[in-house]
Amino acid sequence: MLFLLKGGHETLPRAEAEAILEAEGFKYEARPGAPQVFRCLAPIEAAYRVAGRAYYLRACAEELFTAPDDPSLILSSLSDLKLDLQAGERFWVRIRRVRGGGRDVDINSLRREMLTLIESRTGAVPDLSRPRVVYLGVFSGGSFYFGRVLAWGRGGLEERRAKNRPFFHPSTLQPKLAGCMVNLTRVRAGEPLLDPFCGAGAILMEASILGCIPIGLDVSPKMVRGSRLNLGYFCPPPYHLSMGDARRLPFRGVGAIATDPPYGRAASTIGIELRRLYEDFLHSAYDILRPGGYLCMAGPDTLGVTYMGLEAGFIHVESHLMRVHGSLTREIAVFRRP
Ligand SMILES: C[S@@+](CC[C@H](N)C(=O)[O-])C[C@H]1O[C@@H](n2cnc3c(N)ncnc32)[C@H](O)[C@@H]1O
Repeated sequence: MLFLLKGGHETLPRAEAEAILEAEGFKYEARPGAPQVFRCLAPIEAAYRVAGRAYYLRACAEELFTAPDDPSLILSSLSDLKLDLQAGERFWVRIRRVRGGGRDVDINSLRREMLTLIESRTGAVPDLSRPRVVYLGVFSGGSFYFGRVLAWGRGGLEERRAKNRPFFHPSTLQPKLAGCMVNLTRVRAGEPLLDPFCGAGAILMEASILGCIPIGLDVSPKMVRGSRLNLGYFCPPPYHLSMGDARRLPFRGVGAIATDPPYGRAASTIGIELRRLYEDFLHSAYDILRPGGYLCMAGPDTLGVTYMGLEAGFIHVESHLMRVHGSLTREIAVFRRP
C-alpha cells in the first residue's frame, strides 16, 4: 500500500494513518518510505478505511513498483509491469513532486511517455476528464513510487473551518487537527468520544462526522452553548453536552478522550494555575479511562505534558510538536491507560 500524505507536518500524517490501521484492526507491516510517503503491507480493504477517516491523507494506492527518480528506469519498470487494464478502458497518470523530489525530471514529458506506453501495451485510452483507473506517481526522497489509486483523501473540511461556524472562539481548533486528534485515540465509529474541555466543539464535530458519539464538557456555560450551536448546525444527533469541571470527570469506563485544554492564553483556566489544571485533569482522565483506552491531548510544549501523563500512570504512546506561532509550540501527546 502506498499512502500519499499531506504536507504541513512532519510526523502527524503518518501517525494518523497508523492509528487508523490499528483502530480498524488491520495487521500491517511498515516499509521504508520517504517524505509524505507511507508504505506498508496491508490488505486492500485498509486503504478504503484509512481514506474514509484520515484528515492528513491525499491518496491511497496499491503500489505497483518503486524506482530511482530517473525517467529511463521508471519507463523500464513500467514496461515490465503486468497492467490490469482492458482495451478501451479510460485511464490517466497523475504525477506529484514532494519537496523538490525529481526536480530534474520534466514531469509533463514523463507523463506523456507513460500514457503512450500504457496505451500501446493495453489498448486502454488516456482520458483526463473521466478516467476509470488513475495511476499515481510520486517523486520523493530520491525515489519514484508508482501505484494504482484505490481512494482519495477526504474533502469537505472548508465548511467547518472556524470562520464558517455559527459560533466562533479564537481558541478553537481547525477541523484537520481536531479530526486527526480523534483518530489518534484509535476510537471506532459507534463508540463515544469525550472532550472534557470542549470549547467551541471542534473535536466533537469531527468525532460526530467520523460516526462516534460526541460527549462534551466545559466549565463555561457560554462555551457549552457555543458547542451546542455548532454541533446542532453541522452534526446529526446524538451528542451530549454539559457544564462541568475536567478535574472531576463524572464518567467511568470511557474508551477515548481527545481534548485541547486551555494554554493560559486565548482560553480561560478559570483562575487555576495551568500546571495544576493539567495534573488534576490527567489524574481524573486516568480514573475514568478503561484499561487500554486512549487519551490524545494538546498542551504548550513548555509544560511537559508527556512527563505529567507518565506521572499520572499512563503509557506514553507518541508526541508530536506543532509550531503555532513565534512564542507557542503545541505538543500533541497520545497516552494509553495500562
Ligand atoms: C482551548 S479551549 C478548547 C477549544 C476546543 N478544543 C475547540 O476547538 O473549540 C479550552 C476550553 O477549556 C475550558 N475550561 C477551562 N477550564 C476548564 C475546566 N476546569 N473544566 C472544563 N473546561 C475548562 C475553557 O472554557 C475553554 O472553552
